[in-house]
Amino acid sequence: MIQVTRLGRHFAARITGVDLSKPLDDDTFEQVRKAFFDNEVVVFPGQKLTPAQQIAFTQRFGTLEHHVRKEAQLADHPEIFILSNKLNANGKAIGAQDAGRFWHSDLSYKTQPSLLSALYAVEIPVKDGKPLGDTHFASTTAAYAALPEAMKQKLASLKNIHSYRDYRLKNYAAQQEDERRGIRTVQEHAPTPEQLASVPDMATPVVRVHPVTGRKGLFVNEGHTSHMYGMPEAEGDALLRQLYDHIIQPEFIYSHHWAPGDLLMWDNVAVQHKATFDYDPLPRLLYRTTVRGPAVADSMVLQ
Ligand code: SIN
Repeated sequence: MIQVTRLGRHFAARITGVDLSKPLDDDTFEQVRKAFFDNEVVVFPGQKLTPAQQIAFTQRFGTLEHHVRKEAQLADHPEIFILSNKLNANGKAIGAQDAGRFWHSDLSYKTQPSLLSALYAVEIPVKDGKPLGDTHFASTTAAYAALPEAMKQKLASLKNIHSYRDYRLKNYAAQQEDERRGIRTVQEHAPTPEQLASVPDMATPVVRVHPVTGRKGLFVNEGHTSHMYGMPEAEGDALLRQLYDHIIQPEFIYSHHWAPGDLLMWDNVAVQHKATFDYDPLPRLLYRTTVRGPAVADSMVLQ
């Protein structure tokens, strides 16, 4: 029997009593799956996982993605996307070191956006006994539930554009705030024309019904939403800013303080997340697997 302990006010939990390096029987897996979707973000502390074991566990939730940034894939395990500032012999980072510098939901710009991600902590920077590089999560279902009824009605028929193309060009409020506090943020990745061609823009409902839980959530994010669909730009940008500010209010946030051996899983339909770049040059290394989700109901591919 697994133990589930709530960590945040509206969401997030710790799950103990399970060893993810071994295949789970169907009953235990169902308990884990239910606890995950109920809590939106879960951490399994103290795990000892090889890349193959992480892949075996996470692919029970669905098909694993191979990230469009091939240079950050783990050799022999393309399902693993490396997040790291560690350098190889040529002085290049061995993984993506700029992932999560803005609030986002993984791969929300794809025709089948990610259902969930799992991030395994191999090496966590520590200073003065305190772990650095927290990951922050905001529940978009809790944020939606707290909206006034008139706003829910206004949003019901609206769509926003999710774009991989646009995301490097913006000045992210979250990034600006980090820089104001003296936290260096890295922006290293320039997508190639082939990468861009593989991910056309998507028009997606602002209010998304979760394919597993049926909960409604706000499917807009600062990182990958480029603009509102069919709305004058200034009006659309003002509405998006209002929604972003609403989503990241403290009561909807859970911040994860990492320890090596944590496997942290989050529901990309129900939450969005952001990294903290307060550790460089201390080394940080995590392995991410990402499960493909279903196409979003009423979404459209834009060419
Ligand atoms: C991400 O998956 O966006 C990065 C999270 C982190 O490195 O804290």
